Amino acid sequence: MKKLQQLYEGKAKKVFATDDPEAYIVEYKDDATAFNGLKKGTINEKGIINNRVSNHLMKMLESHGIPTHLIKELSDRETLVKKVTIVPLEVIVRNIAAGSLSKRLGLPEGKKLAKTVLEYSYKDDALGDPMVNDYHVYAMELATPEELATIAGYAFKINELLTNYLKDLNIELIDFKLEFGKTSDGTIILADEISPDTCRFWDSVTGEKLDKDRFRRDLGNVEGAYQEIMKRLLGE
Ligand code: TMP
Repeated sequence: MKKLQQLYEGKAKKVFATDDPEAYIVEYKDDATAFNGLKKGTINEKGIINNRVSNHLMKMLESHGIPTHLIKELSDRETLVKKVTIVPLEVIVRNIAAGSLSKRLGLPEGKKLAKTVLEYSYKDDALGDPMVNDYHVYAMELATPEELATIAGYAFKINELLTNYLKDLNIELIDFKLEFGKTSDGTIILADEISPDTCRFWDSVTGEKLDKDRFRRDLGNVEGAYQEIMKRLLGE
């Protein structure tokens, strides 16, 4: 597999073409941003941890019938993935109130939600990723009703699978963000990453935050939290 030219550089990853027209290489960086890029920093070894954690979780999801972009982990920071066109939506699932939901609706962080919440944000940095509903999605032709139904179905199933998997590791899944992509034949698959950058993980015994909120909120021991997640998931 040949790594060819860089196609895209995001806030946390770079994407490269390969000699396979149906595959890309994703390379994870240590760069961290928050508040739409306003706060910038680095988290030592984050790229390595997120690459390995995301692949580990995607493998688990694949084994339970969720199609993902994962082909093969190539190195500490690099993964071969299926080429997709990203559906420009951040798909957010919430079990417990936290973050922007708490702020917007005045719900205390940590309050269990009586029903799982599914939200969509339109992926557009210039607009600050505004929240949209299904009508906006169809009006802007971001996805068809059939595609959005598939995405929502996968999001709830992933929530169930991840919640149960993490429970055994004493990790409570508060909320998380997913991105989906479309392969050249139009199939919707899970893409992007699942990591402490994109999930809220709380220790189920102590309540300690083990995710990017430590960086966003200057809580200290950011690296320690990422290492702890890798240790619990991968045993190292
Ligand atoms: P929020 O409470 O700030 O809306 O975040 C909800 C979830 O989405 C949380 O697990 C963190 C994740 N997230 C991202 O992955 N990327 C983002 O840009 C934002 C704002 C949140």
